Amino acid sequence: MPPDRNSWLGTARHALATVPLGPRAESRGRVEEVADGVAMISGLHDVRLDEVLRFSGGQVGFARVLDPDLVGCVLLDAASDVEANDAVFGTGEVINVPVGEALLGRVVDPLGRPLDGKDPISAEANLPIERPAPSIIERDLVTEPVQTGVVVLDTLFALGRGQRELIVGDHSTGKTTLAIDALIAQAETDVICIYVAIGQKSSSVRRAIDTLQTHGNFSRCIAVVAGASSASGLQWIAPYAGMTMAEYFRDKGQHALIVIDDLSKHAATHREIALLTRQSPGREAYPGDVFYIHARLLERAAKLSPARGGGSLTALPIAETDSGNLSAYIPTNLISITDGQIVLDAALFHQGQKPAVDVGLSVSRVGGKTQAPILRDAAGALRLDYAQFLELEVFTRFGGVPDDRVRQQLTRGARIREALRQPQHMPFRLQDEAALMLAVQSGVLDSLPPEAVTAFRAALPATLDANAGGALAALAEPKPLPPKARDALLAVLRRLAASLAPETPPEARAT
Ligand SMILES: Nc1ncnc2c1ncn2[C@@H]1O[C@H](COP(=O)(O)OP(=O)(O)O)[C@@H](O)[C@H]1O
Ligand SMILES: [Mg+2]
Repeated sequence: MPPDRNSWLGTARHALATVPLGPRAESRGRVEEVADGVAMISGLHDVRLDEVLRFSGGQVGFARVLDPDLVGCVLLDAASDVEANDAVFGTGEVINVPVGEALLGRVVDPLGRPLDGKDPISAEANLPIERPAPSIIERDLVTEPVQTGVVVLDTLFALGRGQRELIVGDHSTGKTTLAIDALIAQAETDVICIYVAIGQKSSSVRRAIDTLQTHGNFSRCIAVVAGASSASGLQWIAPYAGMTMAEYFRDKGQHALIVIDDLSKHAATHREIALLTRQSPGREAYPGDVFYIHARLLERAAKLSPARGGGSLTALPIAETDSGNLSAYIPTNLISITDGQIVLDAALFHQGQKPAVDVGLSVSRVGGKTQAPILRDAAGALRLDYAQFLELEVFTRFGGVPDDRVRQQLTRGARIREALRQPQHMPFRLQDEAALMLAVQSGVLDSLPPEAVTAFRAALPATLDANAGGALAALAEPKPLPPKARDALLAVLRRLAASLAPETPPEARAT
């Protein structure tokens, strides 16, 4: 049937009548100079702070400095593509990133552009990277645990959902590994993982993502990557973009865990941008607002009230120290912002005590309340025994024959130290951790030489599965272990220890 000419004409007339014809105001500026990822622009008078600016070549940046005659624009694309005299347009929008389920299992840059060679993200929505943190009324107490699968964290420094815990230590002390292990353990839980890499070497990022893919459940992870070679603007927005992507799940009533690797690099990028845009430097040449930019970032991690859906966002920011100097500017800032810190010690790491957590300097301020009762009972005594052991060990190193009680404490402490060691990428289940702590505390391990504790720990999960089905079920319950199950479990643990004990009787050995 031919189209009805009259109705077609009518529609076309109507369409024409509603097209706004006439002049349209467009703010257009000019690049005066461009260097080191920052462009100074003249002629843009109605730009807002953090507004996205578009260059004639298609590149984007955002306005960081609003002087009366010049706008300082931080580029989000390679600076080499932007030249002086290029035209620049204001967009009237702040930086938005895509959010939604489509990001799961993907590697993206901080603007949500794919880096894994797959299709572009079909976003559920685009949200600004800077969003206000939930207010006090919208929050709830941290009551549920984050099971990290790392024995030393889950027993001594338990994390709760909604907590912010800093991982801090020198270069190459296992910071990334510890955080990635916590993400791997979430394969067994309902927690969504977000890994944000800022200014890291491509090889390190590659290794971290490979590890997540092989050992974890990457289909419930998002990797946001701004590598060392990315524009500094991209590195600067990375943690905010990651937070916005994570908040989507928090606000839907789900649970998310974000690792920000690392905020020292982010602070250095912030300093670089600030110095290039001629903001006045303060302590260690950082601009005065470096505390504020990290505080407002980490405040967005929260446990929401039931009225807001009860979701949570837990943050594990990482900071790097120089020769263990925790009192440098950025580490002290972050320590005071977060709810505790896991301090990794280079000396322990080189002695082979991995994860190299310094038990004296680390603390978790809110997670203890969320700990499974079975671990909480063990943890109090463990912390005391271990702290006493570390002091006694120093004293007895200079010789002298300790009495029986001290010798017993040394024996126990050495077993605790072995039990807290853990190979990378092998998360423990809650049941394994509880059984290991029971073995330590009931003295099952005291008869083993410290080296055999490693074998004991390695054989534990399989042995429990094979021989302690009933006790295992009881361990998974959120209540103390009933005496019968405890006896059955102890019998299994004793048998395992006996099978690993060497021929020599224990009295013949030193601790
Ligand atoms: N628990 C562990 N067991 C064995 N090796 C580890 C452990 N933790 C870290 N490592 C190794 O130590 C090296 C440095 O770790 P990494 O996490 O990259 O350090 P950082 O992020 O602090 O620079 C890596 O090669 C990693 O495989
Ligand atoms: Mg690292």
